[in-house]
Order: sequence, then structure tokens, then C-alpha cells
Amino acid sequence: MRILVAGGTGVIGSRVVPLLTAAGHDVIATSRRAERLLPAQAAGAEGAVMDARDAASVDAVVSGARPDAIVHLLTDLATEDFAGNAHLRVVGTRNLVAAAERAGVTRMVAESIAWVGEPDAAPGDESVAIARDPDTDESLFPAVESLEAGVLGLEHGVVLRMGMLYGRGTWFGRGGRIYERAEGGTVVATVRHTSFVHVDDAALAVVMALDWPRGVVNIVDDDPVDADEWAPELVWAAGGDTTELTVRATGRASTNTLAASLGWVPEHPTWRDGPFDLV
Ligand SMILES: NC(=O)c1ccc[n+]([C@@H]2O[C@H](COP(=O)([O-])OP(=O)(O)OC[C@H]3O[C@@H](n4cnc5c(N)ncnc54)[C@H](OP(=O)(O)O)[C@@H]3O)[C@@H](O)[C@H]2O)c1
Repeated sequence: MRILVAGGTGVIGSRVVPLLTAAGHDVIATSRRAERLLPAQAAGAEGAVMDARDAASVDAVVSGARPDAIVHLLTDLATEDFAGNAHLRVVGTRNLVAAAERAGVTRMVAESIAWVGEPDAAPGDESVAIARDPDTDESLFPAVESLEAGVLGLEHGVVLRMGMLYGRGTWFGRGGRIYERAEGGTVVATVRHTSFVHVDDAALAVVMALDWPRGVVNIVDDDPVDADEWAPELVWAAGGDTTELTVRATGRASTNTLAASLGWVPEHPTWRDGPFDLV
């Protein structure tokens, strides 16, 4: 296939691009800055400069690339600008879906998040509706809803609700924001009830989902856990001592039965290994 990876330089995209080229696909990776595309090009992809907030820029790249499928890995989290990320989810997705429709592209795999279901201590499956937790940033839920609805409007739209990413290059990896705070004993957890997923497993799911039917699929490991349990483990693994935990919202963990039925089995079934793959 000819596959456009929107967000080909991010923590998931930089893994997805070489997986796709190695599998023999023609890949076009996007970034806002040409110099960030060098690793993707070294992996055999073409590079395209695109700002997802600019409809004309997105249209030019999609119509020029003429892809069979689009992979949507656009987030804006490098600076922890959550409002900016919500805006990108809404506007970037709208622009990408509109450009896909104009170019006759019906297949899209997009990254969503797994912790936005009705808050509950019991893990939920894909039938759990996106719900509002009053403790969460209010821009989050409408943005996730908008992203998912846009992608599912395509004939072959697949939404992957990813757990909290850990592994090299993520916030939980050495040098990452959450890791660095944990070295000093401080953990700020987005939600109490958490599902994790190793970023390598997340990338594999994106590649596999290019063949999956339209719908929502949770991409999480086998080991849902509460922040009170994982936070001290992370602090210990990062060399910290006592844990000072702040939990922002209740959240909900997720099950992965559907993904397993589609053939995705995580190579890292639990964040406990390492833990967080840190040793
Ligand atoms: N489920 C999760 O837990 C989850 C999910 C995602 C991220 N994160 C965390 O967030 C951290 C940062 O994520 P990241 O490394 O993927 O970086 P990021 O800054 O979120 O960027 C992701 C991708 O989106 C692209 N992008 C961002 N804004 C864009 C725009 N306006 N137009 C076009 N492309 C745009 C980036 O390209 P350029 O910057 O090259 O233009 C990059 O390819 C990670 O370390 C991870 O821990 C967590």
C-alpha cells in the first residue's frame, strides 16, 4: 500500500514508519519541519512538510501523496500544552478527514486514548462511552469525541484507544518528564485507574490495524492498575525514595479482548517488567 503517516516523527510515528517500509509499503511521513523528517527518510520513506491546523497544507499533502491509507498520529504533547493538543485533535482531524474524502481515501487508522470512559474501578471494553470526569481538563472529552467521530465517519476508519505509553522516548522513559519527576519522588498521575501499553506494542497495533474493520479497538496491556500501586514502583525504578502522588482524575482502565481477537498480542503484557522497561 501507499501510506501517509501524519505525525511520522512522533514517539509512535517514528516506530511505525520503519515497520511499514520494512513490510514493503510506500510511506510518506509528515512533520511541520523538514529537518525532523531525516530519520523517516533514512528508513526509506518520503517526507512531506504539513501543518495539520492548516487545511490547505493538509489538502496539498494528501492530494499530492495519493495514499491508499492514512495513519493519523497527530498529537501536540511535546510541551505539555493540553489545550493545544485538544485543538489539534479537533482541527487536525477535521482537516485530515476532509482531505481524505476529497482524495477518495477511505482507510484511516487514528490514535485516541483509553482512559476517557465513564469513570469506574472496573476496566471497560470498547462499548464504554466517552464520559466526562469533572476532575479532568474539560477540553479533553469533546476533542476525543470529535476525533473519533471524524475517523469513524470514513468507510474504513479505525480508532485505537491507546493506554498510557511507556518505553524509550515516552514521558515514562529515562529522561522523560514523568521519569524525571519520579527521580525526585513526585508523580502526577493523569488518572487513578490506568491501563498502560508499551510504545513498541502500540506501534505494532497501528500497522496491524490497517487491515482491521471499521471501529474502535482498545490497545492496552493485560495489567490494569491503580496509580497508588504503579507510582511507587516507578519512583523506586527511577532511583527515588518516598512517593508523593497527585492524581488528577478518576479515569478508567480498559480491556484488550477485542484487539487479541484481531491478532494483536502485546510483547509487553505488563508494565511490571522492569518495571516500565527501565532495567
Ligand atoms: N497515549 C499516551 O500516553 C500518549 C500519546 C501520545 C503522546 N504521549 C506522550 O507525549 C510525549 C510527546 O509525544 P510525541 O513525541 O509523539 O510528540 P508530539 O509533539 O505529541 O508530536 C506527535 C506528532 O504529531 C506531529 N504534529 C504535532 N503538531 C502538529 C501539527 N500542528 N501539524 C502537523 N503535525 C503535527 C509531530 O510532528 P512535528 O513535531 O515533527 O511537526 C509528531 O510527528 C511522548 O513522549 C509520550 O509519552 C502519550
